[in-house]
Amino acid sequence: MCGSEKSRKLEMSYGKERMTDQIELNQSKLGTREYWNEFYRKEQQNFQDNEDDTGECWFNDSNAEEKMIEFIINNIQEATFPDGLANKSDISFLDIGTGNGHLLFQLCEQLNEELGDKKEGNQFHFHGIDYSPDSIQFATSIAEKKYPKNSFNFCQVDLLSKDEAFLNSHSFDILLDKGTLDAIALNQDPIAEFGGKRGMDVYAKQVARMMKTHSILLITSCNFTEKELITLVTSGTNLKVWSKIKYPNFSFGGMEGSTVVSIAFVQNGEFA
Ligand SMILES: C[S@@+](CC[C@H](N)C(=O)[O-])C[C@H]1O[C@@H](n2cnc3c(N)ncnc32)[C@H](O)[C@@H]1O
Repeated sequence: MCGSEKSRKLEMSYGKERMTDQIELNQSKLGTREYWNEFYRKEQQNFQDNEDDTGECWFNDSNAEEKMIEFIINNIQEATFPDGLANKSDISFLDIGTGNGHLLFQLCEQLNEELGDKKEGNQFHFHGIDYSPDSIQFATSIAEKKYPKNSFNFCQVDLLSKDEAFLNSHSFDILLDKGTLDAIALNQDPIAEFGGKRGMDVYAKQVARMMKTHSILLITSCNFTEKELITLVTSGTNLKVWSKIKYPNFSFGGMEGSTVVSIAFVQNGEFA
Protein backbone atom coordinates (compact mmCIF):
# COMPACT_ATOMS: atom_id res chain seq x y z
CA MET A 1 0.00 0.00 0.00
CA CYS A 2 1.14 3.49 -0.71
CA GLY A 3 2.22 5.32 2.41
CA SER A 4 0.96 8.66 1.23
CA GLU A 5 -1.92 9.18 -1.15
CA LYS A 6 -0.50 12.25 -2.75
CA SER A 7 1.47 12.33 -5.91
CA ARG A 8 3.73 15.22 -6.60
CA LYS A 9 5.01 17.19 -9.44
CA LEU A 10 8.76 17.10 -9.20
CA GLU A 11 9.05 20.84 -8.75
CA MET A 12 8.01 21.18 -12.30
CA SER A 13 9.10 23.93 -14.58
CA TYR A 14 8.26 23.35 -18.22
CA GLY A 15 10.92 24.23 -20.70
CA LYS A 16 9.96 25.61 -24.06
CA GLU A 17 9.64 22.98 -26.75
CA ARG A 18 13.05 23.19 -28.26
CA MET A 19 15.50 20.44 -29.11
CA THR A 20 17.46 18.26 -26.65
CA ASP A 21 20.10 20.42 -25.03
CA GLN A 22 17.77 23.39 -25.05
CA ILE A 23 15.03 21.73 -23.01
CA GLU A 24 15.51 23.30 -19.62
CA LEU A 25 14.26 22.59 -16.13
CA ASN A 26 15.03 24.35 -12.88
CA GLN A 27 17.77 23.13 -10.57
CA SER A 28 16.30 21.50 -7.46
CA LYS A 29 17.37 19.57 -4.39
CA LEU A 30 15.36 16.64 -5.81
CA GLY A 31 18.20 16.30 -8.30
CA THR A 32 20.72 15.37 -5.60
CA ARG A 33 21.68 12.02 -4.10
CA GLU A 34 21.74 13.56 -0.59
CA TYR A 35 18.07 14.43 -0.91
CA TRP A 36 17.10 10.88 -1.86
CA ASN A 37 19.32 9.30 0.82
CA GLU A 38 17.59 11.38 3.45
CA PHE A 39 14.18 10.72 1.90
CA TYR A 40 14.58 6.90 1.99
CA ARG A 41 16.21 6.96 5.43
CA LYS A 42 13.01 8.57 6.72
CA GLU A 43 10.80 6.15 4.77
CA GLN A 44 12.73 3.22 6.20
CA GLN A 45 12.29 4.60 9.72
CA ASN A 46 8.53 4.90 9.11
CA PHE A 47 8.46 1.31 7.84
CA GLN A 48 10.28 0.09 10.94
CA ASP A 49 7.64 1.83 13.06
CA ASN A 50 4.73 0.57 10.96
CA GLU A 51 5.13 -2.28 8.48
CA ASP A 52 2.08 -1.16 6.52
CA ASP A 53 3.84 2.07 5.60
CA THR A 54 5.94 1.13 2.59
CA GLY A 55 6.44 4.73 1.49
CA GLU A 56 5.51 7.20 -1.20
CA CYS A 57 3.78 6.08 -4.38
CA TRP A 58 4.68 8.73 -6.95
CA PHE A 59 2.03 9.94 -9.39
CA ASN A 60 -0.65 8.13 -7.45
CA ASP A 61 -3.43 10.56 -8.32
CA SER A 62 -2.83 9.98 -12.01
CA ASN A 63 -2.99 6.22 -11.43
CA ALA A 64 0.30 6.05 -13.30
CA GLU A 65 1.62 2.95 -11.54
CA GLU A 66 -1.62 1.06 -12.10
CA LYS A 67 -1.69 2.08 -15.75
CA MET A 68 1.93 1.05 -16.33
CA ILE A 69 1.24 -2.38 -14.81
CA GLU A 70 -1.98 -2.80 -16.78
CA PHE A 71 -0.10 -1.88 -19.98
CA ILE A 72 2.54 -4.56 -19.32
CA ILE A 73 0.08 -7.28 -18.33
CA ASN A 74 -2.22 -6.60 -21.31
CA ASN A 75 0.68 -6.78 -23.75
CA ILE A 76 1.94 -10.01 -22.19
CA GLN A 77 -1.53 -11.60 -22.16
CA GLU A 78 -2.28 -10.61 -25.73
CA ALA A 79 1.26 -11.35 -26.96
CA THR A 80 1.39 -7.88 -28.51
CA PHE A 81 4.89 -6.85 -27.45
CA PRO A 82 7.42 -6.69 -30.32
CA ASP A 83 8.67 -9.97 -31.84
CA GLY A 84 11.33 -11.50 -29.70
CA LEU A 85 9.48 -10.40 -26.57
CA ALA A 86 5.86 -11.25 -27.46
CA ASN A 87 6.06 -14.99 -26.79
CA LYS A 88 8.91 -15.04 -24.33
CA SER A 89 8.18 -17.06 -21.20
CA ASP A 90 11.21 -15.75 -19.37
CA ILE A 91 10.91 -11.98 -18.94
CA SER A 92 13.31 -9.74 -17.03
CA PHE A 93 12.21 -6.39 -15.64
CA LEU A 94 14.42 -3.50 -14.56
CA ASP A 95 13.04 -0.63 -12.50
CA ILE A 96 15.36 2.34 -13.03
CA GLY A 97 15.57 4.53 -9.93
CA THR A 98 13.45 2.07 -8.00
CA GLY A 99 13.18 4.08 -4.75
CA ASN A 100 11.13 1.97 -2.35
CA GLY A 101 10.55 -0.68 -5.03
CA HIS A 102 6.79 -0.14 -4.93
CA LEU A 103 6.30 -0.46 -8.70
CA LEU A 104 8.18 -3.78 -8.81
CA PHE A 105 6.32 -5.23 -5.83
CA GLN A 106 2.94 -4.32 -7.31
CA LEU A 107 3.97 -5.60 -10.73
CA CYS A 108 5.06 -8.92 -9.24
CA GLU A 109 1.82 -9.30 -7.23
CA GLN A 110 -0.40 -8.50 -10.18
CA LEU A 111 1.52 -10.71 -12.60
CA ASN A 112 1.09 -13.56 -10.16
CA GLU A 113 -2.61 -12.83 -9.78
CA GLU A 114 -3.41 -12.34 -13.45
CA LEU A 115 -1.06 -14.77 -15.13
CA GLY A 116 -0.24 -17.20 -12.35
CA ASP A 117 -2.26 -20.18 -13.48
CA LYS A 118 -2.96 -19.12 -17.07
CA LYS A 119 0.61 -19.07 -18.25
CA GLU A 120 2.35 -22.03 -16.79
CA GLY A 121 6.10 -22.02 -17.06
CA ASN A 122 6.28 -18.23 -17.12
CA GLN A 123 9.24 -16.84 -15.30
CA PHE A 124 9.61 -13.22 -14.32
CA HIS A 125 12.78 -11.66 -12.94
CA PHE A 126 12.57 -8.43 -10.98
CA HIS A 127 15.54 -6.09 -10.72
CA GLY A 128 15.68 -2.59 -9.28
CA ILE A 129 18.55 -0.12 -9.40
CA ASP A 130 19.03 3.18 -7.64
CA TYR A 131 22.02 5.38 -6.86
CA SER A 132 20.84 5.89 -3.31
CA PRO A 133 22.19 3.23 -0.91
CA ASP A 134 19.28 4.04 1.41
CA SER A 135 16.77 3.25 -1.33
CA ILE A 136 18.42 -0.12 -1.94
CA GLN A 137 18.49 -0.94 1.76
CA PHE A 138 14.85 0.07 2.16
CA ALA A 139 13.55 -1.79 -0.92
CA THR A 140 15.53 -4.89 0.13
CA SER A 141 14.07 -4.82 3.62
CA ILE A 142 10.51 -4.50 2.26
CA ALA A 143 11.17 -7.46 -0.07
CA GLU A 144 12.48 -9.59 2.80
CA LYS A 145 9.67 -8.72 5.20
CA LYS A 146 6.66 -8.54 2.90
CA TYR A 147 7.50 -10.66 -0.15
CA PRO A 148 9.64 -13.51 1.19
CA LYS A 149 8.31 -15.96 -1.41
CA ASN A 150 9.39 -13.86 -4.39
CA SER A 151 12.84 -13.02 -5.56
CA PHE A 152 13.88 -9.39 -6.08
CA ASN A 153 17.31 -8.18 -6.95
CA PHE A 154 18.08 -4.63 -5.77
CA CYS A 155 21.42 -3.13 -6.63
CA GLN A 156 23.08 0.24 -6.05
CA VAL A 157 23.87 1.62 -9.50
CA ASP A 158 24.43 5.18 -10.67
CA LEU A 159 22.81 5.32 -14.08
CA LEU A 160 24.86 8.38 -14.94
CA SER A 161 28.27 6.82 -14.34
CA LYS A 162 30.12 6.10 -17.58
CA ASP A 163 32.21 3.29 -16.06
CA GLU A 164 29.32 1.59 -14.29
CA ALA A 165 29.98 -2.16 -14.82
CA PHE A 166 26.32 -3.09 -14.25
CA LEU A 167 25.35 -1.30 -17.47
CA ASN A 168 27.75 -3.41 -19.53
CA SER A 169 27.02 -6.73 -17.89
CA HIS A 170 23.20 -6.72 -17.76
CA SER A 171 20.38 -6.44 -20.26
CA PHE A 172 16.64 -6.59 -19.69
CA ASP A 173 13.42 -7.16 -21.63
CA ILE A 174 11.26 -4.48 -20.03
CA LEU A 175 12.76 -1.38 -18.42
CA LEU A 176 10.63 0.92 -16.30
CA ASP A 177 11.09 4.48 -15.18
CA LYS A 178 8.56 6.26 -13.00
CA GLY A 179 9.83 9.71 -12.08
CA THR A 180 13.55 8.96 -12.36
CA LEU A 181 14.28 10.89 -15.54
CA ASP A 182 12.25 13.69 -13.97
CA ALA A 183 14.50 13.65 -10.90
CA ILE A 184 17.65 13.43 -13.04
CA ALA A 185 16.48 16.45 -15.04
CA LEU A 186 16.28 18.52 -11.86
CA ASN A 187 20.05 18.47 -11.73
CA GLN A 188 21.30 20.65 -14.56
CA ASP A 189 24.98 20.47 -13.62
CA PRO A 190 27.35 19.53 -16.45
CA ILE A 191 28.90 16.04 -16.04
CA ALA A 192 32.63 16.10 -16.75
CA GLU A 193 32.92 12.45 -17.88
CA PHE A 194 30.28 13.15 -20.53
CA GLY A 195 32.02 16.23 -21.88
CA GLY A 196 29.89 18.62 -19.85
CA LYS A 197 26.50 17.24 -20.92
CA ARG A 198 23.70 17.15 -18.38
CA GLY A 199 22.16 13.98 -16.92
CA MET A 200 18.96 14.25 -18.93
CA ASP A 201 20.96 14.49 -22.15
CA VAL A 202 22.91 11.26 -21.53
CA TYR A 203 20.10 9.35 -19.78
CA ALA A 204 18.73 7.54 -22.85
CA LYS A 205 22.14 6.39 -24.11
CA GLN A 206 22.98 5.02 -20.68
CA VAL A 207 19.66 3.16 -20.47
CA ALA A 208 20.06 1.80 -24.01
CA ARG A 209 23.26 0.04 -22.87
CA MET A 210 20.99 -2.34 -20.93
CA MET A 211 18.58 -2.99 -23.81
CA LYS A 212 18.51 -5.62 -26.57
CA THR A 213 16.75 -5.50 -29.92
CA HIS A 214 13.23 -6.16 -28.66
CA SER A 215 13.53 -4.42 -25.28
CA ILE A 216 10.85 -1.98 -24.19
CA LEU A 217 11.51 1.13 -22.12
CA LEU A 218 8.35 2.47 -20.47
CA ILE A 219 8.83 5.95 -18.99
CA THR A 220 6.36 7.97 -16.96
CA SER A 221 7.13 11.65 -16.54
CA CYS A 222 5.39 14.68 -15.11
CA ASN A 223 8.08 17.16 -16.02
CA PHE A 224 8.19 16.80 -19.77
CA THR A 225 5.63 17.15 -22.50
CA GLU A 226 5.18 14.17 -24.79
CA LYS A 227 7.19 15.91 -27.49
CA GLU A 228 10.06 16.77 -25.16
CA LEU A 229 10.23 13.24 -23.76
CA ILE A 230 10.36 11.75 -27.26
CA THR A 231 13.12 14.18 -28.25
CA LEU A 232 15.18 13.35 -25.15
CA VAL A 233 14.89 9.59 -25.56
CA THR A 234 15.22 9.18 -29.32
CA SER A 235 18.04 11.67 -29.98
CA GLY A 236 21.30 9.80 -30.51
CA THR A 237 19.82 6.36 -29.71
CA ASN A 238 18.11 3.55 -31.65
CA LEU A 239 15.01 3.96 -29.54
CA LYS A 240 11.69 4.65 -31.24
CA VAL A 241 8.21 5.29 -29.89
CA TRP A 242 6.33 1.98 -29.69
CA SER A 243 3.17 2.90 -27.78
CA LYS A 244 1.67 5.43 -25.38
CA ILE A 245 -0.55 5.16 -22.34
CA LYS A 246 -3.63 7.36 -22.42
CA TYR A 247 -4.52 9.62 -19.49
CA PRO A 248 -7.57 11.84 -19.12
CA ASN A 249 -6.92 15.24 -20.70
CA PHE A 250 -7.62 18.51 -18.94
CA SER A 251 -8.12 21.80 -20.67
CA PHE A 252 -7.28 25.10 -19.08
CA GLY A 253 -7.04 28.57 -20.60
CA GLY A 254 -7.33 27.21 -24.12
CA MET A 255 -4.52 24.68 -23.56
CA GLU A 256 -5.00 20.90 -23.51
CA GLY A 257 -2.81 18.36 -21.77
CA SER A 258 -2.48 15.68 -19.11
CA THR A 259 -0.56 15.87 -15.86
CA VAL A 260 1.67 12.89 -16.70
CA VAL A 261 2.84 11.16 -19.85
CA SER A 262 3.83 7.49 -20.21
CA ILE A 263 5.58 6.44 -23.41
CA ALA A 264 6.93 3.00 -24.36
CA PHE A 265 10.02 3.01 -26.58
CA VAL A 266 11.43 0.00 -28.40
CA GLN A 267 15.10 -0.62 -29.10
CA ASN A 268 16.02 -0.45 -32.83
CA GLY A 269 12.65 0.90 -33.81
CA GLU A 270 11.62 -1.58 -36.46
CA PHE A 271 8.13 -1.60 -34.92
CA ALA A 272 7.65 2.15 -34.77
C1 LIG B 1 10.95 10.54 -7.96
S1 LIG B 1 11.87 9.24 -7.33
C2 LIG B 1 11.00 7.88 -8.06
C3 LIG B 1 11.23 6.59 -7.34
C4 LIG B 1 10.43 5.39 -7.89
N1 LIG B 1 10.68 5.20 -9.30
C5 LIG B 1 8.96 5.56 -7.64
O1 LIG B 1 8.18 5.71 -8.57
O2 LIG B 1 8.59 5.53 -6.45
C6 LIG B 1 13.38 9.29 -8.30
C7 LIG B 1 14.35 8.16 -8.01
O3 LIG B 1 15.44 8.23 -8.92
C8 LIG B 1 16.63 7.89 -8.24
N2 LIG B 1 17.77 8.43 -9.02
C9 LIG B 1 18.02 9.72 -9.33
N3 LIG B 1 19.15 9.84 -10.06
C10 LIG B 1 19.61 8.58 -10.26
C11 LIG B 1 20.77 8.04 -10.92
N4 LIG B 1 21.66 8.84 -11.51
N5 LIG B 1 20.94 6.71 -10.93
C12 LIG B 1 20.03 5.89 -10.30
N6 LIG B 1 18.95 6.35 -9.63
C13 LIG B 1 18.73 7.68 -9.61
C14 LIG B 1 16.43 8.52 -6.86
O4 LIG B 1 17.30 8.00 -5.88
C15 LIG B 1 14.96 8.21 -6.62
O5 LIG B 1 14.80 6.95 -6.02
